[in-house]
Amino acid sequence: MEIKIQKTTEFKQKPDQKHLGFGKVFTDHMFVMNYTEGTGWHDARIVPYSKLELDPAAMVFHYGQEMFEGLKAYKGSDGKVYLFRPDMNAKRTNATNKRLVIPQIPESDFVEAVKAIVDIDRDWIPTEPGTSLYIRPFIIATDEFLGVAPSKTYLFIIILSPSGAYYESGLEPVGIWIEDEYVRAVRGGMGFAKTGGNYAASLIAQVKAHDDGYSQVLWLDGVERRYIEEVGAMNIFFKISGKIVTPMLNGSILPGITRDSVIQVCRSWGYDVEERRISVDELIEAQKSGKLEEVFGTGTAAVISPVGKLRYKDDVMTIGDGNIGPVSQKLYDTITGIQWGTADDKFGWRIEVK
Ligand code: PLP
Ligand code: COI
Repeated sequence: MEIKIQKTTEFKQKPDQKHLGFGKVFTDHMFVMNYTEGTGWHDARIVPYSKLELDPAAMVFHYGQEMFEGLKAYKGSDGKVYLFRPDMNAKRTNATNKRLVIPQIPESDFVEAVKAIVDIDRDWIPTEPGTSLYIRPFIIATDEFLGVAPSKTYLFIIILSPSGAYYESGLEPVGIWIEDEYVRAVRGGMGFAKTGGNYAASLIAQVKAHDDGYSQVLWLDGVERRYIEEVGAMNIFFKISGKIVTPMLNGSILPGITRDSVIQVCRSWGYDVEERRISVDELIEAQKSGKLEEVFGTGTAAVISPVGKLRYKDDVMTIGDGNIGPVSQKLYDTITGIQWGTADDKFGWRIEVK
């Protein structure tokens, strides 16, 4: 893939690394590539970060044909720049694209585009502990047409955002609201895909949870509203009687890359990891009988986020002693150690941007 590069002449001021928050500041450049039916993906380019000009009839505005990804770049203590398993984001992009009838992108082009844009803006990668450069690739349907049909033209864009912790509380355990009224996704729907519609569907419950003082929503399955699925922006894990348990991939939850990494790391430590159905009743029972030892979420933005409190209807379950549990802490240290280049990368997950 040939990528044309047009560098900016107006460099922006870099933010204070101590108060980054998540996804609020954007770098000097962006990657853009067009798709046209008959021609395929073309005109890969890096240009100064700028606003987009789109026709109000562009299909993405009307029927939500779009997808996005999320990954991070890290500056190691050796000064090198690393990505974490970007090939997995490329694969998931194509799984999402298939469901949304968006054209496939060659995996190697996806990874090359990510590396190219990160390389150009590598000075934007923050180095304060807990910070990184969040990478947001996304694709939108751009045909000017109000009929319901797949678009024939698309834009693939990658923007970058120096970011700190996703939750303001950092590694402090968060409170999670188990939603018993609304559902996020059903099997056969788009739950496994990373597309805006899933997040739009989640907002109403998130507002309800926030109003009650909880950080995020834990979704139950869309049919019986009984089985645990995932959290708004992360997958969920439980340590029950020494075993690590997480909902199996069933088509309605996102196949998280952090989830997959945590499963592999836990197995390498000798833990039994069960990917299976977990009912909310089993969870309540485990908590009441003292078997629920740790709860944590996993995600690119969230990394490993300990959960200190779970609310389901009238039950408020406190997990552990209000501090991060030992397995959650060890996972956080191991995964971020691999990402930052301070831990042995025995799985070969760290990819250098040269
Ligand atoms: N589930 C949802 C709904 C998410 O938005 C995310 C974030 O990407 C995840 C799970 C975790 O996925 P990953 O570990 O690939 O970031
Ligand atoms: C990520 O972790 O990359 C995500 O996409 C979560 C996002 C919805 C903030």
